[in-house]
Amino acid sequence: MTIRHFITTQDYSRAEIDALLLQAAEFKRSPRGQQLAGKSVALLFFNPSMRTRTSFELGAFHLGGHAVVLAPGKDAWPIEFEVGSVMDGDTEEHIAEVARVLSRYVDLICVRAFPKFQDWAVDREDKVIKAFAQYATVPVINMETITHPCQELAHAMAMKEHLGDLQNRKYVLTWTYHPKPLNTAVANSALLIATKLGMDVTLLCPTPDYVLDERYMAFGYQNAKENGGSLKVSHDIREAYTGADVIYAKSWGALPYFGRWEQEKPIREANKHFIVDEEKMALTNNGLFSHCLPLRRNIKATDAVMDSPACIAIDEAENRLHVQKAVMASLINGR
Ligand code: CP
Repeated sequence: MTIRHFITTQDYSRAEIDALLLQAAEFKRSPRGQQLAGKSVALLFFNPSMRTRTSFELGAFHLGGHAVVLAPGKDAWPIEFEVGSVMDGDTEEHIAEVARVLSRYVDLICVRAFPKFQDWAVDREDKVIKAFAQYATVPVINMETITHPCQELAHAMAMKEHLGDLQNRKYVLTWTYHPKPLNTAVANSALLIATKLGMDVTLLCPTPDYVLDERYMAFGYQNAKENGGSLKVSHDIREAYTGADVIYAKSWGALPYFGRWEQEKPIREANKHFIVDEEKMALTNNGLFSHCLPLRRNIKATDAVMDSPACIAIDEAENRLHVQKAVMASLINGR
């Protein structure tokens, strides 16, 4: 039997995404239930988290389920992912056993595994979560790898709450400066969900080096075509912000510089002016601002923007709780 996972929203039709968002709105109105009664969820964190851990753990609890949180390599054994590996290094057990054993204990396996960030050709294979999906006999949920599909749903829900119908609303995904190069997961995800919802999307970034991976650009163009929206790339801040309904900020490292971050640093440093500030927001169509959080204030966005009524980042963060309940309940019920 084929197992339905939640690894990328590209595996889900527009109708399925809309249904998850409707279910999430139901959970927001009525937060408690028994949809996960007697069920358990493993939350595996290879990287730090505040929102994801809290919202998944409490989400399972609110629906009568139980979550077990594990940090492989810290409070659980380090895991080997290479097939055929002679395991004489630091790893203590293979994903083939980890995923199969967890599948005997729990009803869902949720994984956060950021890319290693040295070689994009390797990172883009998303091997960790794919290995969980390969060996698990229960559904696997992506809690952020090279995309962040739960964040996508929470973002979509927040935009719908404030704007209603999103069709052909002008959406700007803007790169922002950060002192460290960050992964492209949320940027990839923002592109996927905004195009899937039929928005007119502009990817604003300093230079062509910051355009996202061709796979996600291609999905974006395909989604836009299928859903009556559009996608374009701009390096012109004023042109991109003018008339925008939504500004979504994220910092990410330039793909051609993976593993050569010292060479990328001067480019990033030269583009600190991509910060989201009041002057830029004044160009928008009374636009909303959001970010996945965590956010460095006065680096990515100013205090004035973060504290303004336009900022819906806290709503988006709250919505993680509701959308993840919808995803968990849907996968459990689908089994
Ligand atoms: N946005 C998000 O995933 O937050 P955390 O990294 O705190 O989980």
